[in-house]
Amino acid sequence: MKIVQADEVGYIYQTKYQKIEALRNMTCSFETGKIYAIVGESGSGKSTFLSLLAGLDLPTSGSLYIDGKDIRNINRDQYRRDQVAVVYQAFHLFPLLTALENVVFPMTLKGIPVKQAKLRAKELIKKVGLGEKIEEQFPQMMSGGEQQRVAIARAMASEGNILLADEPTGNLDTKNEENIVKLLRNLAHEEQYAIIVVTHNPKVAMEADVILRMMDGTLIEIQENYKK
Ligand SMILES: Nc1ncnc2c1ncn2[C@@H]1O[C@H](COP(=O)(O)OP(=O)(O)O)[C@@H](O)[C@H]1O
Ligand SMILES: [Mg+2]
Repeated sequence: MKIVQADEVGYIYQTKYQKIEALRNMTCSFETGKIYAIVGESGSGKSTFLSLLAGLDLPTSGSLYIDGKDIRNINRDQYRRDQVAVVYQAFHLFPLLTALENVVFPMTLKGIPVKQAKLRAKELIKKVGLGEKIEEQFPQMMSGGEQQRVAIARAMASEGNILLADEPTGNLDTKNEENIVKLLRNLAHEEQYAIIVVTHNPKVAMEADVILRMMDGTLIEIQENYKK
């Protein structure tokens, strides 16, 4: 199902002294059940595009449609809360909460009863390939790969079907990196997420169903990956 459509999207950062055209004429779409990799040099606009997809800001030109609705006309707070989840490079786990509590937290914010949230959190922790042992551990006691998995479980707790990840494997060793990408790939395929990953790593990009290549704020190539 097509969930996101970008139609000639542009974005200009307006600073005190200058305008920076970070995005121009971005046209592409994203479907659930697929994983996408966005690649391109530093400064090519990847993070800016992701922040628009996350609903943190609006395009300054062109349109972005979520489920067929112009993002300008939807409740963006609700969109961010219910439909889209973001995983960052620095995992942003709460240091004073255990793994389980980290995953439970966003659900309780949404008013899901604690008991129910805990059950779901346990299920998600299992789904990202972690054992029960991790549930009571604090982030400080976990490896980078484990922390990233908890961060993914927490992102999935949001119940949305769009998952965005900006360089999610940047801090991990190669083995962990491969595992995380395989996990994301499975999540996209089995749980019907649209997963969009920004990455510098060609190996990560190769795991994606579609690779979008950016340069100087625009798309220069959309490549379907038939290898799989
Ligand atoms: N907050 C900001 N204010 C002004 N310019 C910015 C800001 N964030 C990014 N830019 C500029 O926008 C362009 C795209 O940046 P970015 O989206 O971060 O690229 P990437 O993630 O591909 O490295 C760059 O020229 C960058 O300097
Ligand atoms: Mg970036």
